[in-house]
Amino acid sequence: MEFPITRMRRLRRNEPLRAMVRETRLEPGALILPLFLCSGEGVRRPLDSMPGVFNFSIDEAVKEVEAAASLGIGGVLLFGLPESKDEQATGAWADDGIVQRGLRALRQSGSAKKLVLMADVCLCEYTTHGHCGVVKREGDDYEIENDSTLEILAKTGVSLARAGADVVAPSDMMDGRVAAIRDELDEKGFEQTAILSYAAKFASAFYGPFREAANSAPQFGDRRSYQMDGANLREAMREIDLDLGEGADMILMKPAMPYLDVIRAARERFDVPIGAYQVSGEYSMLQAAFARGWLEPQRAMMETLLSIRRAGAGFIVTYFAQEAAKALA
Ligand code: PBG
Repeated sequence: MEFPITRMRRLRRNEPLRAMVRETRLEPGALILPLFLCSGEGVRRPLDSMPGVFNFSIDEAVKEVEAAASLGIGGVLLFGLPESKDEQATGAWADDGIVQRGLRALRQSGSAKKLVLMADVCLCEYTTHGHCGVVKREGDDYEIENDSTLEILAKTGVSLARAGADVVAPSDMMDGRVAAIRDELDEKGFEQTAILSYAAKFASAFYGPFREAANSAPQFGDRRSYQMDGANLREAMREIDLDLGEGADMILMKPAMPYLDVIRAARERFDVPIGAYQVSGEYSMLQAAFARGWLEPQRAMMETLLSIRRAGAGFIVTYFAQEAAKALA
């Protein structure tokens, strides 16, 4: 049936009609807020490249999470800035590590009853060299060792679960880490702790601002020997397949906007919850345009989130979580 019988504009005439036929919806519960915890008290340190994002001391983070919960946000994803770093990433698995202490404080404050507490599992914030695994040096050469890193990641997962994480989220991209973490969790009695694996994590320029936020830039080299090549979609499917086989409960795709096709492909192929991480660079790029008045903030923000959702992500990790939740209220 063609024009003039069919007129697509009939259903676009006003907002109630548009709302009725809308195919994709966002809700605050599908948004996850990343938070960077640092030591001290009363600290709320703004980040140059990410307006609206802060390093929070634990007391401030507790308030921030309370506010997020009252906006209906689905969860928080915690990262830590330790007071000191070493080659073995001790701060990642220390019982009194920054994220471990943050988790206990959040449990105590009761916010865990309102939203999901997730903790990133990675070593780069805790190693002096800033790589996500153990570095073996030989003269001028170096290698990020896979297998010796697994034990540290597994220990980290357990210590975060013990401190109260509902979900641990390995982002390091070592092979075999999901199985290593699952085994150790089960052995230590944390069989109910879920694993959200950053299964398809691409080596991306869009992580730049995060490395300022988390003080985790590699001191030499880059992450291309462990994170994925941005050109590869089939390889992303294999990564996901392997992580699910190792026991991942959910998968996270990252970055989001430059990889919407990968999210879509994953959605069609795997019947597990899939999230996407709208990473720091995606956020900073939009903020930079907002600051210049080049893009309309709320509309541009919601359009990016909607695109990620439409591509197939059930939940979205985003620095816009509060702003978007407010817009949805
Ligand atoms: C840790 C990690 C990174 C991000 C999440 N976990 C940085 C990286 O891999 O370099 C990036 C998140 C963001 O850019 O917002 N490995």
